[in-house]
Amino acid sequence: MCGIVAYIGNRKAYPLILKGLKRLEYRGYDSSGIALLENNKLNIYKKKGKVADLEGELAGKDLQATIGIGHTRWATHGEPNDVNAHPHYSNNRKLSIIHNGIIENYSSIKQNLIKKGHIFLSDTDTEVLIHFIEDIQWETGGSLESAVKLALKEVVGAYAIVVMSVDNPRQLIAARKGSPLVIGIGVDEYFFASDATPIIEYTKNVVYLDDYEVAVVNDGKLSIQNLDNTETIPYIQKLEMELDTIEKGGYEHFMIKEIFEQPRSITDSMRGRLHAGEGQLLLGGLNNHLDNLAAANRIVIVGCGTSWHAGLVAEYLFEELARVNVEVEYASEFRYRNPVINENDIVIAISQSGETADTLAAIELAKSKGATIFGVCNVVGSSIARATHAGAYTHAGPEIGVASTKAFTAQVTVLALMAIAVAKRKGTISIETYQELLLELEAIPAKVQKVFENASKIKEIAFIFTYARNFIYLGRGLNFPVALEGALKLKEISYIHAEGYPAAEMKHGPIALIDEDMPVVFLATKDSSYEKIVSNIQEVKARKGRVIAIITEGDTFIPGIVDFVIEVPKTHELLTPLVSVIPLQLLSYYIAVMRGRNVDQPRNLAKSVTVE
Ligand code: AGP
Ligand code: GLU
Repeated sequence: MCGIVAYIGNRKAYPLILKGLKRLEYRGYDSSGIALLENNKLNIYKKKGKVADLEGELAGKDLQATIGIGHTRWATHGEPNDVNAHPHYSNNRKLSIIHNGIIENYSSIKQNLIKKGHIFLSDTDTEVLIHFIEDIQWETGGSLESAVKLALKEVVGAYAIVVMSVDNPRQLIAARKGSPLVIGIGVDEYFFASDATPIIEYTKNVVYLDDYEVAVVNDGKLSIQNLDNTETIPYIQKLEMELDTIEKGGYEHFMIKEIFEQPRSITDSMRGRLHAGEGQLLLGGLNNHLDNLAAANRIVIVGCGTSWHAGLVAEYLFEELARVNVEVEYASEFRYRNPVINENDIVIAISQSGETADTLAAIELAKSKGATIFGVCNVVGSSIARATHAGAYTHAGPEIGVASTKAFTAQVTVLALMAIAVAKRKGTISIETYQELLLELEAIPAKVQKVFENASKIKEIAFIFTYARNFIYLGRGLNFPVALEGALKLKEISYIHAEGYPAAEMKHGPIALIDEDMPVVFLATKDSSYEKIVSNIQEVKARKGRVIAIITEGDTFIPGIVDFVIEVPKTHELLTPLVSVIPLQLLSYYIAVMRGRNVDQPRNLAKSVTVE
């Protein structure tokens, strides 16, 4: 959910907003746009691609407006293109809006407005919101501010918006719920932005809007009210941080920011899909294909790297819940052999970037053999999203750090929702299991948050192993893919050699590697293979291996037989990866930082491997 910049005051709005959007580029986006109001004309300029592309489009224009709104879009509804870029006009083109977030109930609102004669130009939820505001203002005859409040009382979802009207060049209206919005207070000028980076060079006096608050700048005055018109006194804070750290939301690196974002990104990956209380699971684009998925004799999952690990987790989920045969393939291997694909095989392609060349090629090969392909992607409108017959976006928000963290847990969450939905459709799980899994999924974000309480302990352990030359990660069942993922995280950002292995496999060779210089990370949560894992730990300890164990809170036995423990909350065995991976992300991050590595852009790596 990307970037907002708006300005009202005495300066030229265009150069200020453009510079502000560039400051927000680090958040990842696919298109940008600006609306300017001058001489009673509301003009919108927007374009797919980079801010520089928009800038090029506007080169030479004499843009004198002193009020404007700008946006960098991270598409969630409607693929990235010029039309879906923000800002959007209302039906009468007198209003314009920019929006970060997701309006979940936009579809029903849109249908009602279409019946009233509204004509929509884009596929976005955002355009529906500004038409809705316009319609309410027309129906009630009230002020734009009151129409905004009434509309926001009706919408479901997350938003940070700024609204501008051609009828009032001295007014901007902003509001937020679930997406951040900062107000910069200057001398007879105001700034609105998703974070402080576009604001800090003009003023250090800011107000952080709270959920359900509406800020109105009118004739140089700022007022803040909640949706029920209760006035709140703006709490003005002084920005202390330097620009660079603000870009990362106060974190030292994007990777640690994205690790700590996971309670929200996991929530977002379920937003509008999971209503556990009502036993409701709606997978949008996939709902029409559930029969297809339920009838499949085999599901082939293709992906690379971390996405391949998410696929391995999905194998356990689909086989256990939906009782369907699953094969997980490295996309790069799958594409170069002549795989057997039967016509009612289903292929699921997993990719954060949606641009990975090997995965794209695997999709094309499977399609050529008649398979139906579903995508699990994080980038709306990406090549892989467009190459598949249907799919489900992970909605994790832009992942900037090269090492994937929040995308992995969002992928696992979406794949779990898919497996549960297919199992329910096939009747291979009881209603009790269905309900239990939905309720437990809903509890996961809070459990992930709880793991963060161990961050300083994990940092201490990382310090001890900063100069280790090798690591082994061991797990069984659903924790085996987590062991692989933990090893990959450490490898790719600290450059320490690390291997993930099925714990039972150790005795078939790798145990020869164990000695007092070999740190071994065990995924040892309380599950059906707990006793076996304890035996594996004892085998390693008998050979002087140094053991770090990820254990379930309250386990009193393993702490007595290992060197270090990190606790995670108890959860359903099938959802364990969502909590057991978190300490491994943090461990790899802290070790890499202590080794002075470039954590966000490790050597030799690219965020999206678009070459073969
Ligand atoms: C994960 O930390 C790595 N950056 C890498 O393995 C990545 O998962 C892989 O390149 C696949 O990328 P994708 O999910 O964008 O397709
Ligand atoms: N949901 C809106 C869209 O898809 C806003 C996305 C964003 O936060 O950039 O256009």
